[in-house]
Amino acid sequence: MKHKEELKEIIKAYRDRGITCDQNELIQLLREVQTLFGGVIPQKALEKTAEKLELKMTFIDALLKRYPSIRTEDAPHTLSVCGGKNCAKRAALSDFVERTYGVQVGGTAEAGFRYKVTGCMKKCGKGPCVKWDGDIHTGMTEEKLRKLIEGER
Ligand code: FES
Repeated sequence: MKHKEELKEIIKAYRDRGITCDQNELIQLLREVQTLFGGVIPQKALEKTAEKLELKMTFIDALLKRYPSIRTEDAPHTLSVCGGKNCAKRAALSDFVERTYGVQVGGTAEAGFRYKVTGCMKKCGKGPCVKWDGDIHTGMTEEKLRKLIEGER
């Protein structure tokens, strides 16, 4: 694994500070690891981090779902579809995602993104809306969404 020694150092620094159970600190650590690996955390580095901090991968996975800006190898992107009642055609858009990419809400698509349905994104007049890696895209169509998902890989 590239950057093995640096990864060890980062983890050691956190362990030494005795703050491995603090979620904010853990997110900070994961951001550092992400930077170390050029923007996407490799699965092996994620597993090594969990192992060294004696954390379960299920815990890390659950935490990562809440932080779309942290990208991992199996899900370098995050897609959130607005599920607010004012976004017309939101259900059709969710159906499209689930059908086309074989993913359920809360899951990870093989196409490389975590999939969520969220509340209103405060752009109701321009719906349907999605967030791709935290950026809101309005007036979403199946075609535009396909380009977003498939064009960025
Ligand atoms: S309901 Fe989708 S942006 Fe408000």
